[in-house]
Amino acid sequence: MNKRLLICRGNIVYSKDRDEMAVHTGSYVVVEDGRVEGIYEKLPEKFQGAPIRDFGDSVIIPAFSDLHVHAPQFPQRGLGMDLLLADWLNTYTFPQEARYADTDYAKEVYGAFLKTLTENGTFHACIYGTIHREATSWLISQMEKKKIRAFAGKVNMNIQSPEYLCETTEESLRETEIFLETFAGNRYAKPILTPRFAPTCSFELLKGLGRLGQKYGAGMQTHLVESRWEAMESIRLNPECSCDTEIYEKAGLLENGPVIAAHFIFPGDEDVRILKKHGGYAVQCPDATVNIIAGIMQTAHLADEGIRLGLGSDIAGGHLPGIYTQVGRSVQLSKLKAFYEPEGNRAILFANAFYMATKEGGALFGKVGSLEPGYEFDALVIRDFSDPFRKITPEETAERFCYTGNPGDILAGFIHGEQVTGGQAEEKALC
Ligand code: GUN
Ligand code: FE
Repeated sequence: MNKRLLICRGNIVYSKDRDEMAVHTGSYVVVEDGRVEGIYEKLPEKFQGAPIRDFGDSVIIPAFSDLHVHAPQFPQRGLGMDLLLADWLNTYTFPQEARYADTDYAKEVYGAFLKTLTENGTFHACIYGTIHREATSWLISQMEKKKIRAFAGKVNMNIQSPEYLCETTEESLRETEIFLETFAGNRYAKPILTPRFAPTCSFELLKGLGRLGQKYGAGMQTHLVESRWEAMESIRLNPECSCDTEIYEKAGLLENGPVIAAHFIFPGDEDVRILKKHGGYAVQCPDATVNIIAGIMQTAHLADEGIRLGLGSDIAGGHLPGIYTQVGRSVQLSKLKAFYEPEGNRAILFANAFYMATKEGGALFGKVGSLEPGYEFDALVIRDFSDPFRKITPEETAERFCYTGNPGDILAGFIHGEQVTGGQAEEKALC
């Protein structure tokens, strides 16, 4: 049977590794059955005569991965940004999340959320729902239908939470098990355990979730050492543990699948050791940590320690949905960290942050985040950012897009070699 063939021409830019970008100027990317077959300056004989999508001076880059985002908080983005975590949760977030008991409301918000995510070039994501199974089920089903690679979870909260969001342990475990069971067979959007964070989850609940993780081969996402208050509160509640990360290890939550630790701003040596041992990701959410935490992750140090890194929008702790905006912000924060705390810290480069947002973050979802042969063609076409005053290189266009771009600069988006956003995709739009 003939393979599904797509050939795009343009300036192709992607990360080879943490430090090095690959740039293919005026080249062809050949995509067979949704995967990159190769990149060529001159099209090989066997592909001559095939139709070509010529994107001219535009730049083709991998689509972005958002490793930490709260779908239900989409309607509160940009609000309460003058508060810090605990007050922000109590004043804005918890009342907003209570509304997802109404599944019809959830469908409207989640539809708009997914549309915004994809319009911003995020095609892979680790997503928090709320405690409500029905609403979260709709979200994960929609993503599966649209072939969006994701991990999505029903949130667990059974202590220190407002009455309207507080589950009993039994109810939380029962609902989570139904959620895992229902979506265990998903190919693209997979279920993941989502204890909100240790201050709102009893150890009994976490242990129960650990057992479910083992039974269903499900990983875990949570907020980890995200603020000094959170780290201290977690240990106060679990005095037999020496650090926040050990709580999840003791509960058996770090050995069943991917481990995604949002923020990881104030880790001690033990937190780093345990997360590394389990191959977990530390997710920097640059805007969110400035907005509601006022802490800065030690990105360069954690990379040196061998911790996997990714970037998150953390909507609505962060106010912007595009992960490309967080690339520049990550560089900015690393400079502040290195300036104010020079010991053990150094500034990172654009290439380092772009790698986190694409190839490194993407690795969580399979072969996505690069344009090397064998990778899924999950890609974006970015307009040339040269202006009349200065012609810039394709790599510089990638950088300028991350700092100054908006969704209108993304001319086309492809998932598995199918156009899903921009131009011709309009009629068969994703969402
Ligand atoms: N910690 C506990 N819940 C939340 C949340 O919803 N957002 C962020 N950023 N941190 C949290
Ligand atoms: Fe968060």
